[in-house]
Amino acid sequence: MQNKLLKNDEYPPSEDTFFIANNIENEKGEYALDIGSGSGYLTKLLTENFSLVVGTDINCEVLQNQSSYKTSNLICCNASDALKIKFDFIVCNLPYLATDEILDIATDGGAEGFEIPKKIFDSTINNLKKNGKFVFVTSSLSNYQKLIDYAEKLGLKTRIMAKKKLFFEELILVEAIN
Ligand SMILES: C[S@@+](CC[C@H](N)C(=O)[O-])C[C@H]1O[C@@H](n2cnc3c(N)ncnc32)[C@H](O)[C@@H]1O
Repeated sequence: MQNKLLKNDEYPPSEDTFFIANNIENEKGEYALDIGSGSGYLTKLLTENFSLVVGTDINCEVLQNQSSYKTSNLICCNASDALKIKFDFIVCNLPYLATDEILDIATDGGAEGFEIPKKIFDSTINNLKKNGKFVFVTSSLSNYQKLIDYAEKLGLKTRIMAKKKLFFEELILVEAIN
């Protein structure tokens, strides 16, 4: 049987990255976290308006190789597992694609596009301040309602902030307040 290789290349700033960036550029506060920092594009954007910004990624190599959008506080871990700080603002360009297997950790969300986002939410909830805001992106190709319902189940108050139609899917940006 052929071995399936896990792809773990850097995810370059893409349509979903810019969609999120356009919608969060006016967020301000003290502590912010970018989960799944990747190239660091969103992490760097947050440094313009927050005093302390942390970026995490499960892929240690992409953090080590950040160049154009490099910032100071990068931690390799699942979601926010390694952190004790409570953040005012957390953003995550989730691996949201509905996939049978996880072959590309940058994009594959597992069954219904829910499996990996759920793991990330279970971690994130421990690091969001009371009244803090968590913004995540999902897609019409995933079971996004299940994800929103799960955020509500964790005690977050959700609303769809914005939608963007692409050729083959619609991106859905969700705000979840603690
Ligand atoms: C869609 S890319 C987004 C990258 C970048 N934030 C952007 O918007 O261009 C998702 C990123 O999440 C990371 N990731 C996947 N699962 C993760 C997890 N459980 N915890 C932390 N990061 C994760 C991937 O390695 C990848 O860099």
